Amino acid sequence: MTVTPEINQKVTQLKAQLQQAGYAYYVLDNPIMEDGVYDQLYRQLQDLETEYPELITPDSPTQRVGDQPASKFTSVKHNIPLYSLENAFNLAELTKWELRWQKQLESISEFAYVCELKIDGSAIALTYENGILVRGATRGDGVTGEEITQNIKTIRTIPLRLNVPIRGKVEVRGEAFLPLNIFEAINQERTKSGEALFANPRNAAAGTLRQLDSKIVAQRKLNFFAYTLHIVNDPNKARDIELESQLQSLELLQELGFLVNPNRKLCQSLEEVQDYFQQWDTGRKILPYMTDGVVVKLNEYSLQQQLGFTQKFPRWAIALKYPAEETPTVVKDIIVNVGRTGAITPMAIMEPVQLAGTTVQRATLHNSDRIAELDIRVGDTVIIRKAGEIIPEVVRVLPTLRPENTVPFHMPTNCPECNATLVRPQDEAVTRCVNSSCPAILRGSIIHWASRNALDIRGLGERIAILLIKNNLITSVADLYTLTVEQIADLERMGTKSAQNLVNAIAESKNQTYGKLLYGLGIRYVGSVNAKILAENFPTIEELSQASFESIEAVYGIGEEIAQSVFEWLRVPNNQALIKQLQAAGLNFAAAIKTSDHDLDQSEQILKDKTFVITGTLPSLKRDEARELIEQAGGKVTGSISKKTDYLLLGENAGSKLAKAEKLGISQLSEAELLKLLDS
Ligand code: IVH
Repeated sequence: MTVTPEINQKVTQLKAQLQQAGYAYYVLDNPIMEDGVYDQLYRQLQDLETEYPELITPDSPTQRVGDQPASKFTSVKHNIPLYSLENAFNLAELTKWELRWQKQLESISEFAYVCELKIDGSAIALTYENGILVRGATRGDGVTGEEITQNIKTIRTIPLRLNVPIRGKVEVRGEAFLPLNIFEAINQERTKSGEALFANPRNAAAGTLRQLDSKIVAQRKLNFFAYTLHIVNDPNKARDIELESQLQSLELLQELGFLVNPNRKLCQSLEEVQDYFQQWDTGRKILPYMTDGVVVKLNEYSLQQQLGFTQKFPRWAIALKYPAEETPTVVKDIIVNVGRTGAITPMAIMEPVQLAGTTVQRATLHNSDRIAELDIRVGDTVIIRKAGEIIPEVVRVLPTLRPENTVPFHMPTNCPECNATLVRPQDEAVTRCVNSSCPAILRGSIIHWASRNALDIRGLGERIAILLIKNNLITSVADLYTLTVEQIADLERMGTKSAQNLVNAIAESKNQTYGKLLYGLGIRYVGSVNAKILAENFPTIEELSQASFESIEAVYGIGEEIAQSVFEWLRVPNNQALIKQLQAAGLNFAAAIKTSDHDLDQSEQILKDKTFVITGTLPSLKRDEARELIEQAGGKVTGSISKKTDYLLLGENAGSKLAKAEKLGISQLSEAELLKLLDS
């Protein structure tokens, strides 16, 4: 059928009407059309577009959800890099920053700060060409991200066409986030369906953005606050735009059709910034989305331009962060968890409480020394904290609220999973199960084998590992490679489709690099960095197996303990048999020149932006090794404790650093916990 001018006009009109109605509803929160009318117009447009597909344009309101799920995302280079922000935790640090930027300028004229709430979501970059949204991408490492345009289009507060036509390229940055009520609802759904819960709204938003099926993204109802505007090349005749300040950009973003957080404020001094910060410490608790601080930006672009950027941060902006939240709750039970290495970690199970935007009901108690120190008992009221938002921990017990007849907690003497007698080596803080056929150890080794830094087998998590072991389908990682679709499909809550996917993912893992395989074996003390070093120095497993202890130790970066551990592991007949089985299954324990380990997507690094201080003697890792592991996971190690420190990695015989960390309320982490975290 040919498109008549009338039809063309009708379609254009419908698009415009629907776009305006959507904008009024979602962005302005001021509906101008009844739902029924909207639906009717929408259907009219859909029908016309079905009849005349040539009239479908990328900015049509019908194009917010894609028909087909994507098979994968492609990486894209950002037109302008996305920087991160330096953090400050108090007025003193903020003042230091002010002095620093002022010193950098030859002369300072008038200046002002714009304060914005720091939204705890996922940064995304949007590109518009001649007013039409052409690309949306995740932040990634700031230089390259993933192209997720179809997912981004589902966000109703992101215009597919700018309200004001701007010719040329426009880059808009902002935060995609999940409103708290939606986050809670998603987690409730996931509890029902037995899926792993999202730890916080930020993870949920990031995970949602990377969903391949945009229909699922649409259901999740992400939202977006815009905060940065770049008019890239401006052959702009339609409108004379000269942006001079951040505040102006925010206003223009609003005019263009974006949702801009209304709680921004122009401040003339740091005192005013501090007032804003304090006011919002209370105010933010009733906001329907998560915030974790205030972003302070110099308002004038001329000043921003003079100051420029460091490697990572703009010099003209800083994030003033709210401290980690603490909250009281009651201990219902104390359990112990058996890890992959047999390490026993006590955990408190508590009345669920809201903490920094998430529901928390478990907290680590680290080890028996920490339990003794806290004297924590079932029934106690405790204060828990989520520092760095990774693992909630018990900070202290409130003794006056202790009910009568409580009993001190003692670590069990036998493994809760296999009943073997537990051991605690004299010089270690960790208690262990040393029964190599303990199901918990097997489960841990499977989960470790499948983890991202090892074989990266999607779909093989704790739940499936437990089922495979319970049903006697596997007794080692090698057995994974003989599993059939039928065997897996028979497991609880698995269907043929997910079974097939898992079998495919397992088969695909055969292509992983030798370094990843070595790491996956879970040899004690061999982290992913060491594994890679070993693989580079001993290009086949046979060479590594034949190598003397001295030649392994001689490798730069490999210490005595690691060398000892590797050397001994390779001499255990069971382990030798495991390697033979894996080789027979088609895994290649040899360095291939053509396949190179690609670096982790930095945005997903587990310790990203976390600062560590190491003190005392660690049970197994040398300091340098611990540092390397932390840095590999995106973290940073510094020499002295300050408020900026997120974690103290604590070994035996710690000195003044421990006292200082305690005074500042900095979280402590044992080596075992660090390793567990890195494996997760
Ligand atoms: S400005 C160069 N403004 O915080 C400017 N960032 O910790 C950098 N964020 O990656 C960003 N709310 O994802 C800016 N109002 C806001 C923000 C904000 C949240 C996030 C953003 C950034 C991270 C840095």
